[in-house]
Amino acid sequence: MFSVDKLNSIVTPYYYYDTQLLRKTLEVIKQECEKHENFHVHYAVKANANPKILRIISQYGFGADCVSGGEIKAAIEAGFPADKVVYAGVGKSDWEINLGLEKGIACFNVESIAELEVIEELAVAANKTANVAFRINPNIGAHTHANITTGLAENKFGIAMQDMENVIERATTMNNINVVGLHFHIGSQILDMGDFKALCNRINELQVQLGKHHIYVQSINVGGGLGVNYDSPDRQPIPDFKEYFHTYTKHLRLREGQQLHFELGRSVVAQCGSLISR
Ligand SMILES: Cc1ncc(COP(=O)(O)O)c(C=O)c1O
Repeated sequence: MFSVDKLNSIVTPYYYYDTQLLRKTLEVIKQECEKHENFHVHYAVKANANPKILRIISQYGFGADCVSGGEIKAAIEAGFPADKVVYAGVGKSDWEINLGLEKGIACFNVESIAELEVIEELAVAANKTANVAFRINPNIGAHTHANITTGLAENKFGIAMQDMENVIERATTMNNINVVGLHFHIGSQILDMGDFKALCNRINELQVQLGKHHIYVQSINVGGGLGVNYDSPDRQPIPDFKEYFHTYTKHLRLREGQQLHFELGRSVVAQCGSLISR
């Protein structure tokens, strides 16, 4: 991985980031993502918000996935264009929503009707239009640690599938709200592509259901979740992005013109970081 000798003089503990590996990883993601003209990657800032790391990632043309006003500011300062910033989270406060409106971010990933109402109220006051995607809880388990599974009905995240049409129909009556898509995220450190396939199948069903109500959304955001190889990081320093994107190409039935968004965090940065201690 790296030579330990040159690091001996530095006071421990500290984080060492292998930016060469980061750049190689970003190259692979870019190369694989660009094979699909409707695929868009947003880096999940929560995975590592170090300003230098953010700046490097922004140089590859990706968007950012933020979960706080602080992350929105950090992403924009690091060079991510505001119109490629998506903003998720179950507890958005007014100042954070106002910041998103003021910066003209791409999309608010909305978790509940109550949140939608607050965003609409603030958008009216600011005389802005908020693009929103609804985070739907797909009730899908993932083969990962129970505490980082987020797509089961019992988890706190997202709008229940049975409420989906009502929420969308309600939003379409709001003048300052523009419904652009659906958002999902089933968990983190997922290495079994079958879990992403299950998500694709669920999204396919939901799109059929929406079609019956003549509802069409322009974008689908499948979140992140791709895991890294913690057992043999040196053997596989870069996760298999090709297989990951291929899983979505093969199993997700997108409508014509529909855009597919990803929010990758761990798989972009985890393997580049080491905690050095004595
Ligand atoms: C909504 C959402 N998107 C993306 C991510 C990033 O996930 P990962 O780091 O597993 O790719 C998370 C992680 O918690 C998340 O909650």
